[in-house]
Amino acid sequence: GAAEKGGWDSFMDKEIHEDPAAVRNTLLGRFSAQGDIVLDEVRIEPEVFRAVDKIIVVACGTASYAGMVAKYAIEHWVRIPVEVELAHEFRYRDPILTPRTLVVAISQSGETMDTLMALRHAREQGSHVLAICNTQGSSIPRESDAVLYTHAGPEVAVASTKAFVSQIVAAYLLGLYLAQVKSTLYADEIHEVVEQLKAMPDKIQWVLDNVSSTVEAAAKRLVNSRSFLFLGRHVGYPVAMEGALKLKEVAYTFTEGFAAGELKHGPIALVEEGEPVVVIVPSARGRDVLHNKVVSGIEEVKARGAFTVAVAEEGDPDAERYADVVFWRPQCPTLLSPLVDVVSLQLLALDMARLKGYDVDKPRNLAKSVTVE
Ligand code: G6P
Repeated sequence: GAAEKGGWDSFMDKEIHEDPAAVRNTLLGRFSAQGDIVLDEVRIEPEVFRAVDKIIVVACGTASYAGMVAKYAIEHWVRIPVEVELAHEFRYRDPILTPRTLVVAISQSGETMDTLMALRHAREQGSHVLAICNTQGSSIPRESDAVLYTHAGPEVAVASTKAFVSQIVAAYLLGLYLAQVKSTLYADEIHEVVEQLKAMPDKIQWVLDNVSSTVEAAAKRLVNSRSFLFLGRHVGYPVAMEGALKLKEVAYTFTEGFAAGELKHGPIALVEEGEPVVVIVPSARGRDVLHNKVVSGIEEVKARGAFTVAVAEEGDPDAERYADVVFWRPQCPTLLSPLVDVVSLQLLALDMARLKGYDVDKPRNLAKSVTVE
């Protein structure tokens, strides 16, 4: 009923507005006063963590994109390979699993059968399994060696929103913890990231307060578009895929998310007059190379008549110059930018679905949790 939705007209709307709290609550109580990562609840011995030489994330849907985001951060911080695999593909390809492999099963519901079967297989092969899960006592954490709960609160809308940002945070905490036990980062470096993470809820709130009306206007402008392309690079790549998935799920729009560098290897053939292309633009500070390459992607699709939407850092002159619409993000480190960028894309999907008159909380043909293989 209306009361459960706390004044919002859908659970999806309510849950997007809970993104800041989901991040804040997932961080709560997980570091010492100095900023060291404390994961007492994870009952895997530090020696086991120290020996981990590979991580395999298994998940489905939105949770798999959270895993893809985490791959960039964990490989950077811990210097071990991180593979991300759709749970249903993983089990049937004879994956290489050893006692030194840490399998991380990410799931909001904790009941996704494909993910459960994947972790069972990993444990049978002698690997350790850590669940990142939002639902206390569900099957996936019960069958794992350890669990790191996301504290997003119950998620009711079928399309996952606040769970996604909390999954990224939990996976980052795991990465920082591994960096701590393996000494691949200095304590000061860990403390710095912790401080940056703590600043994210306010930045997400800034997007909700300042970008929502721009997103709504864009949704009105684009509501009749039959397809959308999303592109991003580095951590922007999984964000592009998640943005594409959201729009597909609730607005039934044909979408594709792809790596911006692939544009010239195929997807650019799809661009015709008026085609909406949403581009996640990396910060212009520091990583100039990535920024410039993504901006030239916008120019290329624009030259072919695309309607371009950029998700870019506040004040980025290139975004202003080449994009028809800009969803601004407040300044934040590249690795943390998915936490803010996805919020505009969640709002875009919500607005598009609403304008089309669809039931945003219960999209056709989909289930909140898929408990069959
Ligand atoms: C279903 C839902 C998706 C979700 C996926 C994984 O397909 O509709 O929103 O991302 O399952 O769910 P999980 O509960 O394992 O995160």
